[in-house]
Formats: sequence, structure tokens, C-alpha cells
Amino acid sequence: NDLKKDSRGALIVLEGLDRCGKTSQSARLLSSLEGLRYSVESWRFPDRTGVGLMISSYLSNQSQLDDHAIHLLFSANRWEKRSLMEAKLMSGTTLIVDRYSYSGVAFSSAKGLDFQWCKVKKKNEVGLLAPDLVFYLDISLEKAAERGGYGGERYEQLEFQKKVAESYKKLTDASWKEKVTYGSPSCFSEIPATVEEKEAAVMSVNEASLIEK
Ligand code: TMP
Repeated sequence: NDLKKDSRGALIVLEGLDRCGKTSQSARLLSSLEGLRYSVESWRFPDRTGVGLMISSYLSNQSQLDDHAIHLLFSANRWEKRSLMEAKLMSGTTLIVDRYSYSGVAFSSAKGLDFQWCKVKKKNEVGLLAPDLVFYLDISLEKAAERGGYGGERYEQLEFQKKVAESYKKLTDASWKEKVTYGSPSCFSEIPATVEEKEAAVMSVNEASLIEK
């Protein structure tokens, strides 16, 4: 459909605890948007190439890094992909992104880093592309822990995930709409309520938004 190609793509972000089902939901959203004949791609952060190689080594406990340093590497990892993301969005491709700046805040602050220092709207994330829609996939800690592979990486421990859940909650209170299963960042004046509405809204938007100061 030509109309769908003419307008920019939407930046859709999925957030949540480890093992909350983001991978499955990304795949479902991908196939449903493909079914509607949208040009759409599924992405994830951290992207484990470039700076992401250091992140991957840290996550698998093969290296140690200062908490602030790894926080900034996660941010650098998003910056590395910024221009490609923008090019994709501007050429009409919708991106479904598994984790984004919100994970940066939720996980780093759960470790004890100052919440204000980590915040999405602090300098190191300002200027990255702002999502059009954020889904928060809510799952109980116990359910997440039961799922296969839990415990394989650095952050996949029940006690830590509990703190991450609290940080996400704080993040939701601070800038997201009060919906448990999904929230949208408040930096958008017009927040589409559903993906369907977003699809309609995308038709009339031609510039990618930025994370605000
Ligand atoms: P993944 O399992 O979704 O690939 O994510 C790897 C881990 O990295 C996950 O435990 C969440 C964490 N993370 C951060 O701590 N900060 C970030 O900015 C991102 C994107 C992920």
C-alpha cells in the first residue's frame, strides 16, 4: 500500500522485566503489522554489536564495569543506532524495539544509581528518537522467574528484578500514563491510545520526535 510507505514509520517500544514476554509479543506485533502490509522491523537493545560487545561480556559476567560506565555504554549503544533508526523511520519503516531508554533507567537505578542521574530526559539520552508508543508488559516476579533460562545473565535474579519492577513503577508514575499493561511517555502531547490509533496517527506525522530536554 503506497500510502503506508509515504509516511514515516512508528517507533514502538516494549519494556518490562526480564522474561516478561517481550520477544513473543514483538513477534506477534511484527506479524500483525506485516499482515496489514506495513514495512516493519523488529529490533532490540542492547544491540550486541559495536559497543554492545562490551555490554554482552558484562551481562554474561565475563567482565566487570563500574555501574555508571555500563549505564553510559547502554546509552552509547542506542546512540550508535540512532541514525539508522531515523533513516528507517523516515523511509516509512515501523520499528518494534525490545527495550530502550526506560530499561536504562529501570535497571541502573535498581542497582542503586541515583534515579535522577539515570533519567531518560537527562543529557545522555536527550536527542535520541522518542518512541511513539511504549508498551509495558506487566508480569509477576514469580511467573517471570519460572520461565525458561531465567538466571542465565547478570540481572536475572528474583531480588534484583523486584527492584527493577519498583523502578519501572516509579518511572511510570513520573512520566507514563497510568495503565498497568502499557504506558506512553508524557513527552508527547498527543498520545495515541492504541496501536490502531497509532497507525492512523502515523499517516499524518512526518518528523521523528526527539527525547526532550
Ligand atoms: P535483554 O535480555 O533484553 O537482551 O537485555 C539484557 C539486559 O540488559 C536486561 O537484563 C536489561 C538490561 N538493560 C540495562 O540494564 N540497560 C539498558 O539500557 C538496556 C537496554 C538493557
